[in-house]
Amino acid sequence: MSNPWRPDFPIFTHSVYLNSCSYGALSRRVEAAYEAYLENRHAKGADWIAWCEKNEIVRGQLAQLIGAEPAEIAVTTSASAALDSLVSALSPSGERNRIVISDFEFPTVGQIWHAQEGRGFEVVTARERDGIIPMSEYERLIDERTLIVSIAHVCYRNGAMNDVAAIARLAHERGALVLLDAYQALGAVPVDVRALGVDFLIGGVLKYLLSSAGVGLLYVRGELVPGLSPYATGWFAQADIHAMDMHHHREAPDARRFETGTPPIPNLFAAEAGLAQILEIGVETIHAHVRPLTARLKAGVKDLGGRLASPEDPARHGAMIAIRSSDDHGLVARLAARRIVTSCRDGNLRVSPHFYNTEEDIDALLAALADNRDLLA
Ligand SMILES: Cc1ncc(COP(=O)(O)O)c(C=O)c1O
Repeated sequence: MSNPWRPDFPIFTHSVYLNSCSYGALSRRVEAAYEAYLENRHAKGADWIAWCEKNEIVRGQLAQLIGAEPAEIAVTTSASAALDSLVSALSPSGERNRIVISDFEFPTVGQIWHAQEGRGFEVVTARERDGIIPMSEYERLIDERTLIVSIAHVCYRNGAMNDVAAIARLAHERGALVLLDAYQALGAVPVDVRALGVDFLIGGVLKYLLSSAGVGLLYVRGELVPGLSPYATGWFAQADIHAMDMHHHREAPDARRFETGTPPIPNLFAAEAGLAQILEIGVETIHAHVRPLTARLKAGVKDLGGRLASPEDPARHGAMIAIRSSDDHGLVARLAARRIVTSCRDGNLRVSPHFYNTEEDIDALLAALADNRDLLA
C-alpha cells in the first residue's frame, strides 16, 4: 500500500515505526524547521520580534486544531506547565473544593491535583473496571462539592477513550467545570472543544502532532478567562510584554495570561512545522486512515490468541492499541531487535499507528508477534 506522506519520514528506511503515542516520527520538514532556527541564529543572532511571532503562529495553529479561538490558548512548555498554571488560578471555595480524577490519568495530572490537597482541595478518583472508567463512577463522584472533573481523553496505558461529551454534560448539570487532558488524542482523534463541551484542555505537540518536546498548550474557554488570575506568572503573561514594568502585574486580557517566561523558541520552529502538516492532512483524514489499521491489528492479535488491553469497540479507543504481555519490556526489546519500534506501559505492549503507517507495517508487527507468542499473555 503506497503512502504519500511516508517518504518524508527517514526512520521508515530502516524501521517499522509504530510508536507515535510516545513520540511522533521525525519528518524532514520538522528537521528543516530546527535547522531554520539555527540558520536564523547564525544570520541574526537575536530575532526576538520574529520569534515572538512564532509563538503567535503556533497559538493560531493550536486553536485551529481544537476548534478554539487563539485568545483562548496559552502556549506553554509542557502539559504539566499548562495544568500548573491553571491550578494556580483556582482556589478552594467553601462549597466546591472537590476534584474528580480517574485511574486513566497520566501520572503528572494525578500528581499535580494531589499537590493541591495541601491547599484545601479534596481529590477523589473514578475507578477503572474492565479497561474502562464506567459512567457510573462519574455519576457516583460528581456532586455539589465538585469544582472540576479532570478527564483523560485517551488513556496512555491501554488506549481506552472516554466519552468526554457525556462526562462533560453530567459535570455541567451538576455545576462542575471540566478539564480534558487530550495529549493522547491530539492529531490522531478529532478534538473540538465546543462539541465536547470542555472548559479547559491541556496537551502537547511531541506525539501525534509530530513536533518537539518543550511546547504544550492550555485552552481556557473564553468566558472563563477574566475570572482566572494565575499566581504562576511572568513577563510573557503581561498585557504588554514590552512594558518592562517591575512595579506592577498587569495580566493579559486573554489566555496568554497563563504563559510565563521566554517562549521555547527552537521548539516553536518544530511545532509550527509539525502542526502545519497535521492541519494540511486534517485530523479527520488521519483518523479515517488509522481506523482500518487498528482494526487489522486487533483482529490479527486475536487470531494469534493474544489479548487486547484496549477496548474492542473502535469508538472506545484512540490510535493506540494495547496488547497484554507477560513481559512487556522483553517484548518491546525483541521487536526492536527486528527493527519494529513500539513501547510499553503497565504490562501492555503499545502499538500506535499514524498517517505514515501502512497495512504492511501492521502485518510486519503481527508476523513478529507470531514468532514471540510466548510473551503474549
Ligand atoms: C496523556 C498525557 N498527559 C500528559 C503527559 C505529560 O505531558 P508533559 O510531559 O508535557 O507534561 C503525557 C506524556 O506522555 C501524556 O501522554
